[in-house]
Amino acid sequence: MLVEGYRVLVTASSRGLGKAIARGFLEGGAAAVTISSRDRTALDAAAKELSRVGSGSVYAVPADLTVREQAEGLVDRARDLMGGLDSVVYVTGPPKAGRLLELSPDDWEYASRLLVLSAVWITYRAIDRLRRPGGSIVYMSSTSIAEANLDLALSTVLRTSLAGLLRVVSHEAGALGLRANMVLPGLARTDRMEALVRRTARSRGISEEEAERALTSVIPLGRAADPSEVASVVVFLASDAARYVNGATVAVDGGSMLRIL
Ligand SMILES: NC(=O)c1ccc[n+]([C@@H]2O[C@H](COP(=O)([O-])OP(=O)(O)OC[C@H]3O[C@@H](n4cnc5c(N)ncnc54)[C@H](OP(=O)(O)O)[C@@H]3O)[C@@H](O)[C@H]2O)c1
Repeated sequence: MLVEGYRVLVTASSRGLGKAIARGFLEGGAAAVTISSRDRTALDAAAKELSRVGSGSVYAVPADLTVREQAEGLVDRARDLMGGLDSVVYVTGPPKAGRLLELSPDDWEYASRLLVLSAVWITYRAIDRLRRPGGSIVYMSSTSIAEANLDLALSTVLRTSLAGLLRVVSHEAGALGLRANMVLPGLARTDRMEALVRRTARSRGISEEEAERALTSVIPLGRAADPSEVASVVVFLASDAARYVNGATVAVDGGSMLRIL
């Protein structure tokens, strides 16, 4: 079992990629997983569903990642509940979609807390609380940090900070016996993808089926990812099998990106 006995915090995980990652750890033998999001009811329902996977314990801690005290408190609470912390998987809520001129200064302020500051807050706490040596952080980001997506201006601009954070964390935390890596999903079947399909249909004046075909036809593998296909890469990066992988950025995008460098 890849992550036997691990105690893992996955943030923003009541549905979508975060929930699939929590499931992936439980299937991989984790002893305990803490999930989190803002909506208590949805979170408890997800915890109930996940508690039927594997034999690990599942804890649910509500937290809004855009509020510093809640983000920091989440890491502390997860460690206390699980009796230790081997991995933190940083997932956050999706930023508002939109091109530059569709967004307001308020959108930028909120998204800065959602995509940048929350990562910094979680990182400091994780470095303090993770098992040393051997603990690790996996950041979930997006291919929009490597290839600009004009329809996702907030993600494109602000998530580049996460790439910078990965560099400094993998160097400084590496010296403390911790690792940090990053995963870039392309398009994965979640509520977020459905929202992007609806937006594409609206903006191009086409049906949702046509919009989905347009979004997936540029993917060499010809389809969006199942969230479990992103989760399995995250679980590997957190596991001891990846003990010499530090500072890596792994795209899980079906081969979509065309960049060379
Ligand atoms: N799906 C894709 O194709 C794709 C591709 C590239 C990158 N991503 C990125 O991956 C991340 C997860 O995406 P997803 O597709 O899994 O989205 P999703 O299905 O919409 O799920 C988002 C999760 O984040 C939680 N959340 C939202 N805002 C939060 C906040 N302020 N504090 C704490 N939790 C919050 C939601 O619960 P509550 O609303 O109850 O808090 C939910 O559990 C996003 O950042 C997204 O941009 C997704």
